[in-house]
Amino acid sequence: MRSRSSTLAALAALVSTIPTCLAAPATAAAAPDPCAKIAGKTFSRPADALACMKSFPFNETLRQNVLTVISRVFDFYTFEDYYLNSPPPFQDSTTNIRADIARINRTHYETDFDFNKDVYDFTTQLNDGHTRWFPDCYTQFQNLLPAPVVTLEENGVQNVFVAPDSVEFVSLLGTNFTGFFDSIEFDFRRLAGAKVLEIEGMDAYAYAQRIAETQSGNFIDLGVRINSAFSSYRISGTDFSQRFGDISGPQFPTQNTLTMKLIPVNSTKAETVSVPFLASYAGAPFANRDDFWAINCVANSGTNGVDNKVSAQVEKLSSKKTRKLAMANIVDVAPKNAVGLPSQFEPTLPPVNGSEGVIKSFILPDKKTGVMFVGSFEPDDFFQFQTDVLATVMQFKQEGVSQLLIDLTNNGGGFVCLGQFLHIFLTGSKSLGNFPNPGFQSTNRANPLAQKILASDIALGVTSAIAFYPADNWAFLSNDTEMSPSDNYMQPPSSRVINGQTFVESQRFLDVCPFNVDIPENPPFAPSKIAIVGNGNCASTCAMFSTLMNERHNTKIAVFGGKPGLPTQFKGMAGNQVLEWFDIDSEIKTANLKDDPLAPPDLLVSGDFRHNWRIAYSFLDETLPIEYKSELPHFRFPYTADTYNNPQNLWIFASASY
Ligand SMILES: *[C@@H]1O[C@H](CO)[C@@H](O)[C@H](O)[C@H]1NC(C)=O
Ligand SMILES: *[C@@H]1O[C@H](CO)[C@@H](O)[C@H](O)[C@H]1NC(C)=O
Ligand SMILES: *[C@@H]1O[C@H](CO)[C@@H](O)[C@H](O)[C@H]1NC(C)=O
Ligand SMILES: *[C@@H]1O[C@H](CO)[C@@H](O)[C@H](O)[C@H]1NC(C)=O
Ligand SMILES: *[C@@H]1O[C@H](CO)[C@@H](O)[C@H](O)[C@H]1NC(C)=O
Ligand SMILES: *[C@@H]1O[C@H](CO)[C@@H](O)[C@H](O)[C@H]1NC(C)=O
Repeated sequence: MRSRSSTLAALAALVSTIPTCLAAPATAAAAPDPCAKIAGKTFSRPADALACMKSFPFNETLRQNVLTVISRVFDFYTFEDYYLNSPPPFQDSTTNIRADIARINRTHYETDFDFNKDVYDFTTQLNDGHTRWFPDCYTQFQNLLPAPVVTLEENGVQNVFVAPDSVEFVSLLGTNFTGFFDSIEFDFRRLAGAKVLEIEGMDAYAYAQRIAETQSGNFIDLGVRINSAFSSYRISGTDFSQRFGDISGPQFPTQNTLTMKLIPVNSTKAETVSVPFLASYAGAPFANRDDFWAINCVANSGTNGVDNKVSAQVEKLSSKKTRKLAMANIVDVAPKNAVGLPSQFEPTLPPVNGSEGVIKSFILPDKKTGVMFVGSFEPDDFFQFQTDVLATVMQFKQEGVSQLLIDLTNNGGGFVCLGQFLHIFLTGSKSLGNFPNPGFQSTNRANPLAQKILASDIALGVTSAIAFYPADNWAFLSNDTEMSPSDNYMQPPSSRVINGQTFVESQRFLDVCPFNVDIPENPPFAPSKIAIVGNGNCASTCAMFSTLMNERHNTKIAVFGGKPGLPTQFKGMAGNQVLEWFDIDSEIKTANLKDDPLAPPDLLVSGDFRHNWRIAYSFLDETLPIEYKSELPHFRFPYTADTYNNPQNLWIFASASY
């Protein structure tokens, strides 16, 4: 994935010499500069942040540019035809993508923000975290409420509450955050732990569902998205962290307050409180409106793809890795602020070897349960992840651990091959029987431009070292041996009818994964002694890992939280590989096809339109992508005041259920 911070650094260097053609669009002559008003501030009133973002008028050239890019990238999107009538239980994602684009093309917008927010909302509501529009101009602010909400069971009944740890939690944002509420004499501290009856005049769970239906995105299952609405623990980077939740931490500063009917702790009387939001800015510093546009909104050197055949690019790629490594992850609005988990709720047990990265492992007081909290599959170091797993399992074995608990809470995915690695390392190569590949059968869409890209790569001698299309990225389905870069796995293409449309895809293939750790033949733990816990927010590579464990080993899986009574999948979003805009544009440029009439133009604005580029097919139904295979957990548990923010308490609770 391209690094946002290095892009920003590169940009910061550019700012002093902005050519006039990149200048911000003009605004009414004598109007005061709404961006200057909030310049230099980490926190602003939402209305002020919005006024800055809405100061850029709608521009038809930019609309045509963005919509043309989006529309031509959708040609590569594997799930387009499913959307016409999304199979149950995912029917609430049904939409006609081409009709949505046409609607946005003819809608009247006052501002560039209004246009971009409409595109953002349309793609977000596809509920596929792999397929979204992120306009960098308008995603730098996040609205934050000093009263994040959670769903908890108390005396056998589930309700929505203001997180009992909200004071400790929001205090981690610093006194510039809490001081704002003190300055307007709003006492958020007395709301901690309050029982929330209604939000914005609706039943609190109904409001959570509304947020899940209109704002959360990322996960095709409604139940999983409802869990996104609430605050929960996670690992962000390599640290314990707490997510605000989408009710309390929405992307856009379009709301000034959130009205809640609640009963404070130690009170019996319901009262209605209007809680102010405060917008947090995570972009690079700016001084005024022109600056804001130049820094956040204009395409920069990291926006559009590059021809990877150019020697400097090749050197950069090959110095790091032997091949390009497939990614499957989501972009969560929440990590930007990286709010920690208040330290008193972090595990107190000593960490086991291999816990420095994205995995944190412990041995529970019962001495027989080993826990691996796999925070993501996106470590800084692809190979270190594998040696960490080895080190952890070695220590577990040495200390006599006999059962394994894997926590996948809020795991946003990462390298496709690390999900496959963890799967095969924990279950042993023998367990895979006559399908020895540790992943899924996969295809990509063989649209006319994709067919040209692959043919051109073959003619040019392009390989997996610099591109994702060449066949040596994959293995043959028939014998699991690596293809050669000259194999054309799209000829002949394969087609089937989905919702009345003819969908054309490549022949099926398998992933080829570089492992630096020996894979055991026999599992380190009896498969019946492995269990998984999470909150369903287990995206992409995480979803592929949990689905492999379910489909191939029938591993026990438990989901915590969600809306009481609403079935909730254990996996969030199980596309296969994602390509960022930079990636697909680089594939096109590397294949010398940027001038093809089917190719999208370069983006004029800074942004990313990412898409799900590959399908993973279910073992239980080889005609169905696992994205659309309903797979429910074996157990469902509510969170309690002891577990929602305390992973160690949750693991001890879960270990009693083997
Ligand atoms: C619209 O955007 C384009 C591309 O940045 C720019 O050249 C043009 O001047 C803008 N139009 C107006 C009216 O600002
Ligand atoms: C708080 O805000 C002030 C003024 O905007 C800034 O100078 C200071 O560094 C901020 N403090 C922290 C801890 O971020
Ligand atoms: C938007 O509509 C106009 C007018 O019909 C058309 O020329 C243009 O190609 C459309 N743009 C996109 C991106 O579909
Ligand atoms: C509620 O009452 C208990 C017992 O008096 C007290 O310890 C606690 O601090 C009170 N909590 C709040 C939020 O007022
Ligand atoms: C854990 O790591 C330490 C330090 O690297 C090492 O000395 C020890 O042998 C490791 N323990 C196990 C069980 O591998
Ligand atoms: C694997 O299968 C492919 C296609 O079926 C074939 O071309 C190739 O020779 C086979 N490779 C091996 C090592 O059997």
